[in-house]
Amino acid sequence: MENAQNEVMKTILHRRAIRRFEEKQIEEAKLQQILQAGLYAPSAGGRQGVLFVVCQDQEVNERLGKIKRANSKPKMATAASYVSKEQPSIADDVTLTNAFYDAPTVITMFAPKNFLFAVEDCAVAAENMMLAADALGIGSCYIGAGWTAFADPYGQEILKKWGVRTDYYGVMQLLLGYPRKGDEHPTPKPRKEDRIIRV
Ligand SMILES: Cc1cc2nc3c(=O)[nH]c(=O)nc-3n(C[C@H](O)[C@H](O)[C@H](O)COP(=O)(O)O)c2cc1C
Repeated sequence: MENAQNEVMKTILHRRAIRRFEEKQIEEAKLQQILQAGLYAPSAGGRQGVLFVVCQDQEVNERLGKIKRANSKPKMATAASYVSKEQPSIADDVTLTNAFYDAPTVITMFAPKNFLFAVEDCAVAAENMMLAADALGIGSCYIGAGWTAFADPYGQEILKKWGVRTDYYGVMQLLLGYPRKGDEHPTPKPRKEDRIIRV
């Protein structure tokens, strides 16, 4: 495939959701590049409304990840419909207690509550960032329903501490960290056929 020779295409094909991380923090220069990829993402109407809150405080990330886990459905997958065999998600594995999988960097992306394209704006920024991360050798995982991490008094206190505007909400989290040795690259599931309709 001619496109596969292109560096961007290679990165798109290589990126995977990573759920097992090394303790080692990512370098500041790499974090800055990943954030820049987010800042340069498209946004509806060119509003640039997404706020990126970067938390590298292990204790805070663990508490928020546990709150989120407590607010998640315990098991959505069946034996045949797992998320990942190699790196199970909380949807597969009831023994996981931290929805952030102990990632050393957790970025919560906030957007205005009353904005039609809040989720889309965060999602396109996240994809830019995940691709930038992969290109830098850093693993990432998109975590949906970001607001559930703040759904208790501790979470609310953290939002105040971070100074997040009350008319914004946490759309999602982006986990970043070095993939644990031996767990660098989970096998992608085969692509489902017949999803492209040429008319
Ligand atoms: C909208 C959205 C929400 C997601 N939420 C979670 C999540 O809460 N926890 C998690 O471990 N992975 C989450 N993921 C990651 C997916 O599980 C992952 O992308 C999928 O299993 C495919 O694997 P791949 O990214 O390696 O191709 C989410 C992905 C998307 C796009």
